[in-house]
Amino acid sequence: MRSDFSAVVDVVREIERWGQRKVAKDFPFEVLLGHLREVGQHFLRVEILEILARFRVCGVAIGDEADRLLLFRFFDTILDKYDKRYDYATYIGLSLLAQPVGVEWRERLGLRDRRVSLLLADLIRFERDADGGMPHAPGDMPPPSRLVGKRLRLAVRVMEPAAARVPGLGRTSADAVLDGATDLERRLLLATMQPVYTLHDEYLFLRVLQAFEETFSFMAVALAEVVRKLCDRQSDDVAETMWAVADTLRESLPLFSLLATMQPEAFQTFRKFTDGASAIQSESYKAFECLCATPERARLESPAFTSVPWVRAEVLDGRATVYDSWRQLVVSGGIDEVDSAVILSAAHTVESIHQRWKQTHYRLAVRMIGLREGTGATEGVPYLNAVLANRLFPNIVQRVSSGEFAHE
Ligand code: HEM
Repeated sequence: MRSDFSAVVDVVREIERWGQRKVAKDFPFEVLLGHLREVGQHFLRVEILEILARFRVCGVAIGDEADRLLLFRFFDTILDKYDKRYDYATYIGLSLLAQPVGVEWRERLGLRDRRVSLLLADLIRFERDADGGMPHAPGDMPPPSRLVGKRLRLAVRVMEPAAARVPGLGRTSADAVLDGATDLERRLLLATMQPVYTLHDEYLFLRVLQAFEETFSFMAVALAEVVRKLCDRQSDDVAETMWAVADTLRESLPLFSLLATMQPEAFQTFRKFTDGASAIQSESYKAFECLCATPERARLESPAFTSVPWVRAEVLDGRATVYDSWRQLVVSGGIDEVDSAVILSAAHTVESIHQRWKQTHYRLAVRMIGLREGTGATEGVPYLNAVLANRLFPNIVQRVSSGEFAHE
């Protein structure tokens, strides 16, 4: 086993060698990340961080725009603790995972499906290799085999329906999904796995968070399109889009069962190094929420929204919502009763699946942290218990049945 010092020297030498030409796609991701996963991102030596910081500042990499962007975002992610701006987004590499903007919802669903398939296929390979005696770092505190079997089944359950919708992937194995990855996607999978510590289970945690984020960001994009259409008085495929939102969230629920196979002791160990990073900072989740309807003032003033200042500012600026734009259309007689009822029913489905999401999340948190505080500066489980009472579309049924929105 090489000493930590000689491993650091090797990594620094590889980065310096790369720096002679600075071709973005040739960056030594494997060497650097191989080392990072052996020691944990929290424990990267300053010699490595300083050389990365130097190349970030002075080194404009050459190559395709996509390769350069990936490298730029990688520097941004790996240097988060060094820069003292570590948070949820940098922990899970959200900037690396950003999807193109301005894409129509069906195409965007395809992008989400492809990404979720890749993230889970990568997880499946990691778990299978470790269980089969060929472990990759991070490797400490590996789960027992029976737990791995369950983990694999649940990962396949979320990967399969997503992969089945991607042209060319079909109902297929994790290996086939990974074989279908482009070179850029392979580097993306490498770059987005930066565990803070050395425990096997953090790999699972990161991939599950990333797969959920893909789902949330799709849901936010799709609902923004619904709002635009309702504001333009086009209600044609609005319900279909909302069903797709509900279906995608429903399909993602087993991700929580998958994460429940994480060993609580492992989680409690590596979360010592994730303080300040909490999914309460997820902008996509909050954007999805406040596209449904404007949250109550108390929630806007709570950590739920003070943790996502950009989203909060948009709400305070009067961002349009599904609820308000639908209501406007009903009141003005711009939608017939059948279309309106279908949208209402889709909204109910989104609501009930989201309630299931919150309940499952709550139960998982009880299991993993018990009475400990959250990493997002809340009291933890009591916060999650309190948000169960919130609704995405508050009182929608009562108001409709009271005739408030009767057609004029
Ligand atoms: C070990 C598993 C998990 C535990 C123990 C946990 C715990 C918590 C806690 C305590 C909070 C409150 C904020 C804080 O102080 O951190 C929170 C919020 C949140 N978590 Fe998790 N969580 C887990 C997994 C996940 C996963 C996989 C997701 C999916 C991205 C997620 C999404 C969220 C969201 C969106 C919030 C904000 C909820 C709101 O403000 O209404 N969590 N979580």
